[in-house]
Order: sequence, then structure tokens, then C-alpha cells
Amino acid sequence: MSLLSFLKTHLVKGSPERLDLKYKTGHWDYLREIPELAHYSIIAGYFQFLKKGGSVLDIGCGEGLLQERIGRDNYSGYSGFDLAAEGITRAKAKEDDKTSFAVADMNTYTTSKTFDVIIFNEVIYYSNVLNTLIRYSAFLKPDGIFILSNFSNQNEKIGWEEIYRHFHCHDETTLFNKIGSGWVVKVLQNKK
Ligand SMILES: C[S@@+](CC[C@H](N)C(=O)[O-])C[C@H]1O[C@@H](n2cnc3c(N)ncnc32)[C@H](O)[C@@H]1O
Repeated sequence: MSLLSFLKTHLVKGSPERLDLKYKTGHWDYLREIPELAHYSIIAGYFQFLKKGGSVLDIGCGEGLLQERIGRDNYSGYSGFDLAAEGITRAKAKEDDKTSFAVADMNTYTTSKTFDVIIFNEVIYYSNVLNTLIRYSAFLKPDGIFILSNFSNQNEKIGWEEIYRHFHCHDETTLFNKIGSGWVVKVLQNKK
């Protein structure tokens, strides 16, 4: 057994050590490649159309790839956090007066700030989705929005019916790339 297989077998799924290893071994390097471009572009498009110039909380931001896709000129503030320290070490190279990154767990993270947009880009399925959305709705500004991107097979496992009892779905886009990988990107709001 290779060292990598050994570590994968012995590190608990979703643990900080295992997530960290995924960055150190280059497992998530594919996120930078063209087959992944569409879901980042749809998220950035929704942000520009609905909340251009607003503040962003990017949950499970990894190495800050979405911040690059949105572009620093388009937001007033960008806070990202991730459980994987290696991802955040890389993201920190992009920090400036309105952009910051930190190591934190989405299941325990808290803040006194509120945001125009809270983004879960390929991360919310590491948690109890409904409970997570309810908890994070306290960190949304009154007209703030959630943007969620989920790989299609993960999206199917999420109990949307129950979620729609609590949140309004403002819009959603289903997309497929050339090799048939699919994502669903949704914009949700607190029900008034
Ligand atoms: C598929 S990657 C997506 C990374 C990033 N959102 C992107 O699209 O570029 C999933 C990310 O979720 C992070 N993650 C998983 N569980 C987490 C948790 N409980 N709290 C914060 N981040 C978490 C992982 O470390 C990883 O960076």
C-alpha cells in the first residue's frame, strides 16, 4: 500500500487532516481546469447580476479559486474560510485590504458580520444542509442571498422539499460540461 493510500484509509473522511492531504497531494488541482469552469462562471454571473459590489462569505473556499473568478474589483469585501490549512495557506497569498482567508469549520464558524452573498461552492454536502442554511441565514443581510453549487449526484441526495419550506429559490441553473459532468447552481433567499 502506498503512503497516500495508507493515509486515505486511516484518516477519517472529512477530517481536517484528510482535507489537508487532498491539497498537499494535488487531488483538487482539477478544480482549476476547464471542465470545472462552468459552475464557477455561473456563481460569478449570479453574483454580478444580483449583488455586484457586495460583500461575500465563501464557505469552504479552498485555495480561493472563486475569489479569482469573481475578481477583486467586483466586491466590497471577501471573507473565505476552509477546514484545510494548506488551502488557506495558498489563499492567503491573495489577501489585501478587502480580502481575507482563515482556517475554520463551517459547522462551528460564527461571525458578528453580515454579508450580501454567502456561497457554498461544492461544500455544503459535507454538512447537514438544512441545519447549515438555517444557521448561516443569521449572517445574511436582510436582502442577502445564498449561492449553492452542487455536483449533480450530491445535489440529488439533498432534501430540497424540506429546504424550500424555509427558503425561497430565486433561480437555479443546471449545467453539463463536454464530458457530461453536471452541476446545479441555486440562488436561495430567506422567506419573508
Ligand atoms: C471540492 S472542494 C471545493 C473548494 C472550493 N469551494 C472551490 O470550489 O474552489 C471542497 C472544500 O470543502 C472544504 N471543507 C470540507 N468540509 C469543510 C468544513 N466542515 N468546513 C470548512 N471547509 C470544509 C474542503 O477542505 C475543500 O476545500
